[in-house]
Amino acid sequence: MDVELTETQALVQRTARDFAKRVVAPRAAEIDASSEFPAETLRGLADVGLLAINVAPELGGSGAGAVAYALAMQEIARACASTAVMMSVTNMVGEAIARFGTDAQRRRFCPALASGQAVLGSFALSEPDAGSDPGSLRTTARRDGGGWVLDGAKQWITGGTHAGVFVVWARTGPPAAGSRGLSCFLLEGGTPGLRVGPPEDKMGIRASDTVPLELDACRVPADAMLGDENAGFKVAMMALDGGRIGIASQALGISRAALDESVRYAKDRQAFGSPIAEHQAIQWKLADMRTHIDAAYLLTMRAAWCKDAGRPFTREASMAKVFSSEAAIRACNDAVQIHGGYGYTREFPAERHLRDARVTTIYEGTSEIQRTVIARAVLGTAS
Ligand code: CAA
Repeated sequence: MDVELTETQALVQRTARDFAKRVVAPRAAEIDASSEFPAETLRGLADVGLLAINVAPELGGSGAGAVAYALAMQEIARACASTAVMMSVTNMVGEAIARFGTDAQRRRFCPALASGQAVLGSFALSEPDAGSDPGSLRTTARRDGGGWVLDGAKQWITGGTHAGVFVVWARTGPPAAGSRGLSCFLLEGGTPGLRVGPPEDKMGIRASDTVPLELDACRVPADAMLGDENAGFKVAMMALDGGRIGIASQALGISRAALDESVRYAKDRQAFGSPIAEHQAIQWKLADMRTHIDAAYLLTMRAAWCKDAGRPFTREASMAKVFSSEAAIRACNDAVQIHGGYGYTREFPAERHLRDARVTTIYEGTSEIQRTVIARAVLGTAS
């Protein structure tokens, strides 16, 4: 694994850091409070090439790779976790289409996602009764004439209100086939029969909408299938392997923001005649935060590096995600503690970071699922 960044990786990192500072950070508190969708910011992310980092340049992407993507996610999440999750899902959708799509699908959707013309991409796998166990999902797709008709319900769909393209999983085989009877479809926003429900009133990442979807006799052409019939589960798993590097990076960005705020406050706040940064109780918290951030960084970069090198990275991505997300919750909790009573108010960003961090152990596979994936690899029982 290379510890030094390549020129391209360093450029993507600098670009993301500059954009985060200039555009994303100044609005983060405001859009958290108002739950406003940051449309301008997302257009700006497209303009600086951060919405399709793993998509080849001939399809409109940056083609900069997984390490560059992880670095960019860290910078954007450090400024605003809501913006980062929408960036992450859009990147995941664009990459899945570039990897599994036909030429026509790639040409139609990848440039639109990369340029921001599609606004966002959404990943519609989970359902009201199928989250950790997507092999049991109940949305169906039946052949009708030359195409397919989709019926069912999806839940927890990031960016669904604004998305120009959805990747939707549906059952095309018998229920007994479980995960081996699922296929994947590309659905454009506004397709008749696709109804987007009201956004959830969430604890954190409040400027990114999370919505339920209803698919009511939603008709798509035969060429809307992404990948092979009944092979959709693997498309989901492979996309999520990469997505988990993104969420590990999002959590890292949030941890860094919590540490930045804690250091600033600890140097400023006086107690017992000196800044609290001089008290060992606070120093140990800062030391632990920094150590966990570095460990999470190394795990995340290893997973990204394996991905770029074409090596297996399922276990590495799960290790990065479980560690980084759990470290983020600890770091943000400590940041609130360091801020004392002020940390519990909206006057300081520490409480926003804690609320934002909380979801990172839940979405794109809970910590329990990540441990299942890691344990299967340890025991040699991964299928
Ligand atoms: N890559 C490629 N193939 C894989 C794979 C991977 N990472 N993981 C499993 N597979 C393949 C297996 O090899 C197997 O193939 P065969 O059919 O050829 O044998 C097939 O998929 C079925 O595998 P399993 O029997 O292992 O499947 P399982 O039902 O036991 O599930 C699991 C495994 C890891 C628990 C999986 O269900 C999982 O990851 N669950 C969590 C789902 C999740 O992350 N949901 C998040 C929703 S999306 C979201 O949050 C997005 C958002 O908007 C923010």
